[in-house]
Amino acid sequence: MRAVTLGSVPATPVVSDVDTPHPQAGELLVKVAASSVNGFDAGTAAGYLQGMMEHRFPLVMGKDFAGTVEALGDGVDSFVVGDAVFGVVMKPFLGTGSLAQYVTVPAGYGVCPIPEGLSAQDAGALGLAGTAALDSVNAVDPGKGETVLVSGATGGVGSLAVQIAAARGAQVIATARPGAEAGFVTGLTGSKIHLVDFTGDLEAQVREIAPGGVDAVLHLAGDGAQLAGLLRPGGRIASTLGFGPDAVEGQEITAHAVMADANAQTLATLAADAVSGALRVPVTASYALEQAPDALAAFGAGALGKLAITCS
Ligand SMILES: NC(=O)c1ccc[n+]([C@@H]2O[C@H](COP(=O)([O-])OP(=O)(O)OC[C@H]3O[C@@H](n4cnc5c(N)ncnc54)[C@H](OP(=O)(O)O)[C@@H]3O)[C@@H](O)[C@H]2O)c1
Repeated sequence: MRAVTLGSVPATPVVSDVDTPHPQAGELLVKVAASSVNGFDAGTAAGYLQGMMEHRFPLVMGKDFAGTVEALGDGVDSFVVGDAVFGVVMKPFLGTGSLAQYVTVPAGYGVCPIPEGLSAQDAGALGLAGTAALDSVNAVDPGKGETVLVSGATGGVGSLAVQIAAARGAQVIATARPGAEAGFVTGLTGSKIHLVDFTGDLEAQVREIAPGGVDAVLHLAGDGAQLAGLLRPGGRIASTLGFGPDAVEGQEITAHAVMADANAQTLATLAADAVSGALRVPVTASYALEQAPDALAAFGAGALGKLAITCS
């Protein structure tokens, strides 16, 4: 099969021929229709995960997938061949990822049926970023009217988190460069959100909106300590970048280091919200699998929202 691979790390990903994987006991073989690019993929190629996870070379990259169940490993009775499914490759090692024509995934973790009304492209872009966004918003649990600063609102996780927080009635303050990025963020929600330019004086802009500090921060980009300093006493910060309780020890605030837990319930919630229109999957560009290295380069250069990969 064709797959986006790394022969070593750090390295530039290439599209090459590798053996099609076989499902092990408890696994599904999924024919991939769509995937997307995540920071995790960029980090893998850059070698940042060395020493943290086993790397199996040639390493097939990719976390998100949407497609059709092609075969079942022994003992799998929760899915049948032909089911439309999506999710996140949740394995303790790197090497059998979803930027490929086929992927094997555990049937019991990180996979969920695609409901009617959700396209494969949107499903393939929703898994990891959606889970990280939902888990982050849940970690700070904003009440109606509370202020939530979303740092990294223009990215894949942020553009979903902005929508989830706004739907809960929070007053969202979103970071964006002026111009196209700001326009993209304001277009995400029907409700009013505040924009702040992170390339300017962030603190002054946030204090003008929330003089006593914000109630909650989602740290998806930027400096966690600086952002934590913008919280009111008793405020909460959730970080996908590892800024956790240790970093705020002795301060009157709470910090949650979020690790996206792409369980079937979370995936089903995200999918249902996407179908109902409560959540728009912010795909801004789509690339064929053969062009996936270009998508990874575009991601690294600073793309808006989600970059989808489609497999024919
Ligand atoms: N812990 C987990 O389980 C988990 C799960 C998913 C993602 N993540 C991590 O979460 C982060 C966000 O993921 P993503 O997929 O949304 O990445 P992304 O698409 O690259 O988004 C990051 C966004 O942040 C913006 N940005 C850069 N510097 C900023 C700053 N100082 N202040 C505010 N915004 C800034 C970027 O805008 P410009 O392009 O204009 O610079 C970009 O739009 C990544 O680091 C990713 O690895 C972790």
